[in-house]
Amino acid sequence: METAAVASKDVTVSLAEKKPKVVFVLGGPGSGKGTQCAKIVQHFGYTHLSAGDLLREERDSGSENGTMIKNMMNEGKIVPSEVTIKLLQKAMVENGNDKFLIDGFPRNEENRAAFEAVTKIEPEFVLYFNCPEEELERRILNRNQGREDDNIETVRKRFKVFLESSLPVIEYYKAKGKVREIDAAKPIEEVFEAVKVIFAPKVEKVKSSRCSSCAIL
Ligand code: ADP
Ligand code: C5P
Ligand code: MG
Repeated sequence: METAAVASKDVTVSLAEKKPKVVFVLGGPGSGKGTQCAKIVQHFGYTHLSAGDLLREERDSGSENGTMIKNMMNEGKIVPSEVTIKLLQKAMVENGNDKFLIDGFPRNEENRAAFEAVTKIEPEFVLYFNCPEEELERRILNRNQGREDDNIETVRKRFKVFLESSLPVIEYYKAKGKVREIDAAKPIEEVFEAVKVIFAPKVEKVKSSRCSSCAIL
C-alpha cells in the first residue's frame, strides 16, 4: 500500500519536473485578492489557486485535519504549512496549466520558508493589494458568502495576523525587488487597470521612431 509519505514525495517530484511559473497574491482580508485573480485568469491565462479556498474544501471533505482547520480558521489563525503546501502542490500537479496565481499564501514566514524548501519554487513576483483596515472591514462585512470567519471579531483578528505575520513576508520579497504594490482601495475596475500594467507583456522601447522595415518601404 502506498504511504502518505511516498505519495507526497511523488507529488514533489512531479512538481519539480513541471517547473510552474508562480505569482503570489497577498493583501489583507477583503483587499480584493479573489476578485482581481478572477480577472487575471480571464485576461492572462493563469490558474487561480486560493489557499483559503483549498483549506475550506479540505475542512469540508471530512478529512482528519477538518476539525483542526475549522478551529484555526474561526480564530483567524494560520494553519500549519505542511497541510496547506500539500494542498497547493496537489492542485498544481493535477492542473494542466503551468502558470499559477497563489492567493493568500505565503501568509507567514513559516509558509514562505517551507514552500521554498519543499517545492524549490521562487515566485516570479508578489502582487500586493494594499488597503486600509476600515475599507477591509466594510467589504468583509458586506461579502455575504456565508463564511463563518466574516464577522467583525474574527476580521479584526485576521487583520492583526496580517500585520504581524504576513507583512514581514511582503517586506522579505520587497528587499528582493519582487513586490508589485497596488492601491486596492480604489474601485474594482481601477484596481484592475493597475494590475493589467503589471501582467501585460513588456514591449521593448524602440530607440528611434523609425523602424528598419519602414526604411525598406
Ligand atoms: P479577498 O480575497 O482579498 O479576501 P475578495 O476578492 O473576496 O477579497 O473581496 C472582498 C469583498 O469586497 C467582496 O465582496 C468583493 O466583491 C468586494 N471588493 C473586492 N474588490 C473591491 C473594490 N476594489 N472595491 C469595493 N469592493 C471590492
Ligand atoms: O485567504 P482567505 O481569507 O480565504 O483565508 C481564510 C483563512 O484561511 C485565514 O484566515 C486562515 O485561517 C486560513 N489560511 C491559512 N493559511 C493560508 C491561507 C489561509 O491558514 N496560507
Ligand atoms: Mg479570498
